[in-house]
Amino acid sequence: MNLQEKDFKYVWHPYTQMKDCETNPPLVIKRAEGAKLFDEEDNFYYDTISSWWCNIHGHNHPKIVKAINEQLKKLDHTLFAGFTHEPAILLAEKLVEITPPHFTKVFYSDNGSTAVEVALKMSLQYWSFHDKPKRTKFVSLDYGYHGDTVGTMSVSGVDLFNEVFQPLFFDSFKAKTPYNISVSEALLDLEDILKNHHDELAAFILEPLLMGAGGMIIYPKEYLEKAAELCKQYNIHLIVDEVATGFGRTGKMFAIEHCDQTIVQPDFICISKGVTSGTLPLAVTLTTDAIYETFYDDYENKKTFYHGHTYTANPIACAVGLATLKIFKDEDVLNKIIPITEQLAKGLERFSDLGVAIRQLGMVAAIELDCQKFSFKDRIGYHIYQAGLKENIILRPLGNVVYLYLPLCLTADDLEFILDKTYKVVKQYA
Ligand SMILES: Cc1ncc(COP(=O)(O)O)c(C=O)c1O
Repeated sequence: MNLQEKDFKYVWHPYTQMKDCETNPPLVIKRAEGAKLFDEEDNFYYDTISSWWCNIHGHNHPKIVKAINEQLKKLDHTLFAGFTHEPAILLAEKLVEITPPHFTKVFYSDNGSTAVEVALKMSLQYWSFHDKPKRTKFVSLDYGYHGDTVGTMSVSGVDLFNEVFQPLFFDSFKAKTPYNISVSEALLDLEDILKNHHDELAAFILEPLLMGAGGMIIYPKEYLEKAAELCKQYNIHLIVDEVATGFGRTGKMFAIEHCDQTIVQPDFICISKGVTSGTLPLAVTLTTDAIYETFYDDYENKKTFYHGHTYTANPIACAVGLATLKIFKDEDVLNKIIPITEQLAKGLERFSDLGVAIRQLGMVAAIELDCQKFSFKDRIGYHIYQAGLKENIILRPLGNVVYLYLPLCLTADDLEFILDKTYKVVKQYA
């Protein structure tokens, strides 16, 4: 039995109809380097979606490989309650340094969904300590996505991915996304919810400026700024989910940096994916002194935050987090990508010939095909994915939205190749 046959026999893949694997088995990836993945025959594929939006500095970056090896010689893993270690401490210090100044405390977990769950639970528990036990609900955007656990699905939009699980969801309010409607209309909808329900609300959660799984929706910063003001006005927490947008992807270290920082001052920021440059699972929920101090008390007062995961703050992942941040500095990554993001903007112009809608933020581009042209049965995304592989690029459209979610290590030549091939594929289907 070869590897693909064994895979089919034993493995159940995520977001995959396994019956498809009978005819189109998953590619066996043997190695990776920089922005490319290589299969068993050494064919290359540009990792144009950064391995599910997490790779930042390219695969197998020598400094990250070194950090893993060095850390592994010292400490592989330890529990994080009653114990601590240097990589977690130093990474927390650095994360506090690079996030807005009011973020002072770091709570570790191990994936994007858990980073969000932690923020939701902390927010709810905060209000219970402030004699507001009725504040148990959340507001989120109707196209939002915050993960696949039951809690995060409850604050995500309901679609093909999760509609079957709806009976498990807790109640939450869905505000209209500023997409296909104006910012002011969306804000009115949000304000309406806050005005009528603030007594039962703990927090508003959203992805700042770029909503990934909802279809790479990019909305104006004015929405986030005004929404932040409304949260302050109605005294509810603001949780920004930077799981997918953090670590330079939008052109700034964090997407909230595109906004006026004196206005957008969230109570929680959730990060994961890029924190290890997409190498190892790690997540962080950062919060403020105000939240932290509410929990800080004598043990008998029962204010402990009872939440933790086995691999919380894994030392190797934290060492990789430190290496990831060092590469940002040493290689001047945020400045280096400026011409690449400009090249991307320019390169996208030619797609307008194809009658598609185009949007871009930093290293992320979305090309939205006319959905009227396709039905669910057409499986347009699946066909585009297959066509992309033939052109050495990885395209996994979200519905009718073809997108590029590019690693920050990309060169001008890499990008030219990717844009040419993407254009060729999109042209076949637009
Ligand atoms: C904005 C956002 N939040 C949370 C998550 C969940 O992260 P994970 O898949 O690591 O649980 C994702 C995953 O894509 C995401 O895009």
